[in-house]
Amino acid sequence: MDKDGLDRRLNKPIGVFDSGLGGLTVVRQINRYLPAEDIVYFGDLANLPYGTKSREQITRLSVRAAEFLNSFKIKLLVSACNSSSATSLAVLKRRFRLPIVGVIEPVAREAVKITQNKRIGIIGTNATIESKAYQKKIKRLDPTVKILAKSCPLLVPLVEEGWLNGKIVQAVIEKYLEDFKDKNIDTLILGCTHYPLLKNTISRVMGKKTTLLDSAYLAACKVKEILAKKEMLVQNNSSKIKFYVSDLPDRFKVIGRKFLGRKIRQVSRVRLDV
Ligand code: DGL
Repeated sequence: MDKDGLDRRLNKPIGVFDSGLGGLTVVRQINRYLPAEDIVYFGDLANLPYGTKSREQITRLSVRAAEFLNSFKIKLLVSACNSSSATSLAVLKRRFRLPIVGVIEPVAREAVKITQNKRIGIIGTNATIESKAYQKKIKRLDPTVKILAKSCPLLVPLVEEGWLNGKIVQAVIEKYLEDFKDKNIDTLILGCTHYPLLKNTISRVMGKKTTLLDSAYLAACKVKEILAKKEMLVQNNSSKIKFYVSDLPDRFKVIGRKFLGRKIRQVSRVRLDV
């Protein structure tokens, strides 16, 4: 988009989408670091999960979500979903003349920056791990890093169910992470919107020596960096956040509170064309 086009969007919201609730962790951090910015959020509940779908399906759904958010004349788009960022970001960037932030690049960069022993672990959905997006990005930044990656498909439904602690959750995480334990991994990427809510248990299983990195904070920093550079940060505004979902909003309101860290008052349901 040309400079004039973006100027006209200065006071417009930041658009954030995810397959469902998980992207609210990103909204929480954007709101924390950019409290004057308006945000419009779309959770594609009708098509959750993205993480078990093919690249083609995820891309089709991501484009549709982005089109919906772009109808609000957003000034920047965030793909909060790791599965979408891993498979569809290039298509979104070609298709929309907007600054677009995905979650893979900022996290991969930080992981390479902080690892001391160059052993990085990655956990995520099937789509994210099989895309190798994190692995390729890390290797491009530092080819000497050793990477261990694993998909953990049961973790999303556990979080969706509100099971964040306890014996069952611990057992599932132990099983998934058993290959990681004796590998001296000093940095573990939580490559999925839902995993920050399991941080306590994951940290207990991995031990204190492993740093856990999640995308929410780092994506928010990237948003701030881009808007500051383009002189598009708003001041003196009391931020409004609007929530839209593509299926029943009731559970989103209840469980979403855990992700967002505060009560969600209103959620609107939208029907997007297939
Ligand atoms: N938002 C997805 C991700 O970060 C997790 C949920 C899903 O599979 O749709 O990969």
